[in-house]
Amino acid sequence: MFSFLRKSKVNTVSVEGWPTTITVPAGKTLLEAMLGQGLAMPHDCKVGSCGTCKFKLVTGKIGELSPSALALEGEEVRGGYRLACQAIPRSDLTIAVDAPLVQGLAVEDYRGTIIAAPRLCKDIIGLTIELDRPLAFAPGQYADLIAPGVDGARSYSFAFAALAGPVRQLHFHIRHVPGGAFTDWLFGADRTGTELTVAAPFGQFALKDGQAPILCIAGGSGLAPIVSILQQALAAGGTRPVHLLYGARQQANLYALDQIETLRNRWQAPFTFTPALSDEDPGSDWAGARGLITEQIAGIANLPAHEAYLCGPPAMIDLAEARLLAASVERAAISADRFLDRGSKR
Ligand SMILES: Cc1cc2nc3c(=O)[nH]c(=O)nc-3n(C[C@H](O)[C@H](O)[C@H](O)COP(=O)(O)OP(=O)(O)OC[C@H]3O[C@@H](n4cnc5c(N)ncnc54)[C@H](O)[C@@H]3O)c2cc1C
Ligand code: FES
Repeated sequence: MFSFLRKSKVNTVSVEGWPTTITVPAGKTLLEAMLGQGLAMPHDCKVGSCGTCKFKLVTGKIGELSPSALALEGEEVRGGYRLACQAIPRSDLTIAVDAPLVQGLAVEDYRGTIIAAPRLCKDIIGLTIELDRPLAFAPGQYADLIAPGVDGARSYSFAFAALAGPVRQLHFHIRHVPGGAFTDWLFGADRTGTELTVAAPFGQFALKDGQAPILCIAGGSGLAPIVSILQQALAAGGTRPVHLLYGARQQANLYALDQIETLRNRWQAPFTFTPALSDEDPGSDWAGARGLITEQIAGIANLPAHEAYLCGPPAMIDLAEARLLAASVERAAISADRFLDRGSKR
C-alpha cells in the first residue's frame, strides 16, 4: 500500500462490553480517541509512565510511542496488555479493559485567551483563561494547554470547582519550573491577551462519596485540585472532618492562604490546616511547622479511618503514600495526582 494511503486510514476499535465502536484517526493514540468519544478510559499521566491506561489487545496490530514494558509488569506485557496512551492502531482492533467502563465528558479542543496572570507568590502564577465556549469538568480534573511557540501540551489542574455547570473562565495555579519551556514562557513576560489551545477535561482524581474524614496533602501548586475537591465537599455540606497539610519551601512560596481560611470558616466539621516549610531560614519569624510536609502525617490521629488525597511533586507523593500505607491506610483510600513533568516522566 502507498504510504499516503496508510496515513489517511481511520481504524476502528471494538471494546469488549462497550456498545459502540471507537474510530481512531491516523496519528491519534487510542487513549485520545477513546476520551474524545466520551469513553472514560482510566488514565493519569498520558505519557506512558503510570500504567493506568492499560488494555488487553485481543486482535489487531498497534505501534507504540514508547514501550508498554516501561510501565507494565513483564507478565502483563506477555499477557497482551498495552498502554492506550502510547498505542497507535495499525489496523482495526478488538480490545478488552479490566476496569469498569463508563461514559464520561468528551475531551475537546477549545480556543482560550489569557485574561489575567497575577503572581500569587514568588513562584506561582494564578492563570485565568477565557474560552470560546463553555466547558464542563469535574472537580480534580485537568486541562492540557498548548501555548504559541512552546512545543507540545502541558497539563494543569483546574484550581476551582465548576459546580453550577459549564464555564467559560478557567483558573489554574502554575508554578515556575526554571528551565521549563511552558513556565519560562509564562513567567517571562506579560502574556495577557495571548491565545492558546485548551484540551479538556482529563483525569480521574476525584473526591469519593461517603463521610470518611479527609486528609489532603499538597505540595506547591498541588493545592489547585485540592481546593477544587474541597469546594465540592463544602457544597455537599462541609460535614466531613478535614486535615489539610500543605508543603512549601519558604514563606515566600506560600499562597492561597485566604482561600483556605475562607473554606475553613465555612466548614461545618473540624478543619485543621498545617503548612510546613522545608527550606525556611532558621532565623526567620516563621512560627509554624518546618521540614518535609510528609513528617506531619504522623501527628494525625486515627489515620486508617481517613481518605487521603495527595497532589504535587511525584517524590512528595511517593513518600506520603509509603507513610500512609505503613500506617495501615488502605491503598484504595489513597488518591494521588502526580504533577509529572518532562524531567520526571520515566
Ligand atoms: C496531571 C497533571 C497535572 C498537573 N497540574 C499542574 C498544576 O496544576 N500546576 C502546576 O504548576 N503544574 C502542574 N503539572 C505539571 C505541568 O504539567 C508541567 O510539567 C510543569 O509546569 C513544567 O512544564 P514546563 O514546560 O515549564 O517544563 P518542561 O519543559 O516540561 O520541563 C520540566 C523539567 O524537565 C526538564 N526536562 C525537559 N525536557 C527534558 C528531557 N527531555 N529529559 C529530561 N529532562 C527534561 C526541564 O529542564 C525541567 O526541569 C501537572 C502535571 C500533570 C501530569
Ligand atoms: S495514562 Fe497511560 S501510562 Fe499513564
